[in-house]
Amino acid sequence: MIPAIKWEDGRLVLLDQRYLPERIEFVHCRNYREISDAIRDMVVRGAPAIGIAGGYAVAVAVRECRDMRAGEEGSVSRSGAGAGYYGECDRYLKEAAKHIAASRPTAVNLMWAVDRVLRKALSVLDAAEKAGAEADQALGEAYAASVGEARAIEMEDLEMNKKIGAYGAPLIRPGSRVLTHCNAGALATGGYGTALGVIRKAWEEGRISMVYADETRPYLQGARLTAWELSQDGIDVTVIVDSAAGYLMSKGMVDCVIVGADRIAANGDVANKIGTYTLACLAGIHSIPFYVAAPTSTFDLSIPDMSAIPVEERAPGEVLHFFGTATAPKDVKALNPSFDLTPNRLVSAIITEKGVIEPPIPENLPRVVRG
Ligand code: MRU
Repeated sequence: MIPAIKWEDGRLVLLDQRYLPERIEFVHCRNYREISDAIRDMVVRGAPAIGIAGGYAVAVAVRECRDMRAGEEGSVSRSGAGAGYYGECDRYLKEAAKHIAASRPTAVNLMWAVDRVLRKALSVLDAAEKAGAEADQALGEAYAASVGEARAIEMEDLEMNKKIGAYGAPLIRPGSRVLTHCNAGALATGGYGTALGVIRKAWEEGRISMVYADETRPYLQGARLTAWELSQDGIDVTVIVDSAAGYLMSKGMVDCVIVGADRIAANGDVANKIGTYTLACLAGIHSIPFYVAAPTSTFDLSIPDMSAIPVEERAPGEVLHFFGTATAPKDVKALNPSFDLTPNRLVSAIITEKGVIEPPIPENLPRVVRG
């Protein structure tokens, strides 16, 4: 698998997911604003992956601070040597972090990772200031520490996904035909995937006979990305239009549904790609298990339920055009919510790297997530 995110010689290199599987192209980001644009424009997408990219973006902002200090043009003063200078860096980095975190609003992994790397950088600068250290040296250390933190987030994510796979696979009954939505695979994470991590592991154990990938309008993450990933691994995958899911379930052709998540509230309500709620309702009506797979970095325990989850609304043009070709009359309106919200009562279990949260999910969630 080509990695979605690479840190190469101090640059973030992103596999451009907008063109897969047709073309393999990379975007080389030179500064934090370019990384933020890449997140907003879906070059990189998927909750954990945008968190990882956002973490590296903060590290890049630290380097920008250091380089401005070293004499390049920029908004951080080149003359200050002491407390004032540290204050300017603090402001620059907090502003950068705010900008990066705002590039997409629903996936909490982005805010979580940005905050984690920012705190790392600021703690190094704070300690250096208190010790009366030279600011140039302190910035060099803060840059190294923040790259290390972003890298740790990436590596931890891969590890978490392997554990999610191991916890989730036993839930899949041998011979299952599994339906998934959007792309919660290696491309959306630090590698291996969440929902696709479970599918990979269960396939390896011989539990899955085939996978249905919802095409996932309007961006076609299922048809383009999930089908690409699974077919590369030799996993039997069949693409269906989103609206075929109910029919297939009614015909007894789906044994379980597994999806990822962009944010999970304290009571276990789930935000995920638009269409997920429809699948959960359909699965409920047909008594088909509906599983959510996500690392604990996707949980937002600060919000009680889904009513507080911000749902991103993207440009109507994404619905009205398909790869540059109009698919609806000119000037017609379109609504394009990118995510939807599924209440915990429709979820059969949430699979995390710390274990499986089974119903009653609101009661069992804190023990698993905090444990
Ligand atoms: O708009 P996207 O492609 O970023 O949406 C991605 C999803 O909804 C995924 O299901 C979710 O982020 C989980 S990825 C492990």
